[in-house]
Amino acid sequence: MIEKARSFIECMYGMSVPAFFITNRKLFIMPEEIQDTQKIFHDEVARIKTLSEAELLKVKYLGRTGVVSELMKVIPKLPVDKRASYGKQINALKDEISKILADHINRLSLEKKSSYKKEVFDVTLPGKLPCIGKKHPLTQTIADIKDVFARLGFEVVFGPEVESEYYNFDALNIPSDHPSRTDFDTFYIKEDVLLRSQTSTVQIRIMEKQKPPIRIIAPGIVYRPDTVDARHSFMFHQVEGLLVDEGVSFADLKGTLYQFIKSYFGENVQMRFRPSFFPFTEPSAEVDISCSLCSGKGCSVCSYSGWVEILGAGMVDPNVFEAVHYDAEKYTGFAFGMGVERVTMLKYGIDDIRLFYENDMRFLSQF
Ligand code: DAH
Repeated sequence: MIEKARSFIECMYGMSVPAFFITNRKLFIMPEEIQDTQKIFHDEVARIKTLSEAELLKVKYLGRTGVVSELMKVIPKLPVDKRASYGKQINALKDEISKILADHINRLSLEKKSSYKKEVFDVTLPGKLPCIGKKHPLTQTIADIKDVFARLGFEVVFGPEVESEYYNFDALNIPSDHPSRTDFDTFYIKEDVLLRSQTSTVQIRIMEKQKPPIRIIAPGIVYRPDTVDARHSFMFHQVEGLLVDEGVSFADLKGTLYQFIKSYFGENVQMRFRPSFFPFTEPSAEVDISCSLCSGKGCSVCSYSGWVEILGAGMVDPNVFEAVHYDAEKYTGFAFGMGVERVTMLKYGIDDIRLFYENDMRFLSQF
């Protein structure tokens, strides 16, 4: 019975309880038990380190269902002549506990406040600037290119990066023995499935779906098995352009590219066309701009020629029109394709293409 009562009170108080005295089936707390409670309280108070520990102890002893009020509940069960004396002792214990805890809570809250003071920071120190994200330089270049061509009435379209030989070569009039078809120049996934090596594929996909007039640019990623170095990457970005309508001439191509070059590189940049060859355009040209780094005087970037190539272009070859069932007698068009990394490098004087892909904040934060 005594053991039962002990474990009940231990459960209630969350503390070890001294022995009980049982008479006439009634449970009495002996004065020593009050003293023991006092002793346990002193032990517990001595271990307090923080304000919240002190506050928890206050709830444990002085709370509505705390140790002291549980002790008080026993008074009515005591013989009448004992009640006053036990009551007094419990009250004395309660006063003592209240005073000791109040002192501790006072002291600990003062300490807490003064530790806040120590933490006060120096408002005169320069602040930390939050790092605000921005566009990757290549994304920015594509946005700038889109901007110029949108003003000229071009729509932005996209095509798949995984392509068939038909869209990457056949429909673009690239002969079956052309070296660019070998796996030295193209990534094959399996026979007839490849990673597109040029965005010219999108010309075919759009012309298959739409009738002229066509006026599109197609930005996107292309892949070539090139060894990575300062100028080459196995993956890079291109922007393809295509305009098809009745009566489109080489002058329109020149005028359009002239507008782009002046807007993107600046008014002082010169443009020149050099005859070239691409299977899908006839005539074809490579377009150079005066080297923006040395203003055409000659430097290592332009191989001391004063000019740098930025894109390939030409009038759409009638064989391409045939592949998409356009009437080559009725329609003419021009096309061009430029490397996004290349124009970005020329505009900002970047000498290594790998910088675009390394995610180095020291590089990226300069844009
Ligand atoms: N597709 C060519 C390349 O990747 C670039 C090109 C040249 C695109 C001439 C054209 C063009 O549309 O007419 O090298």
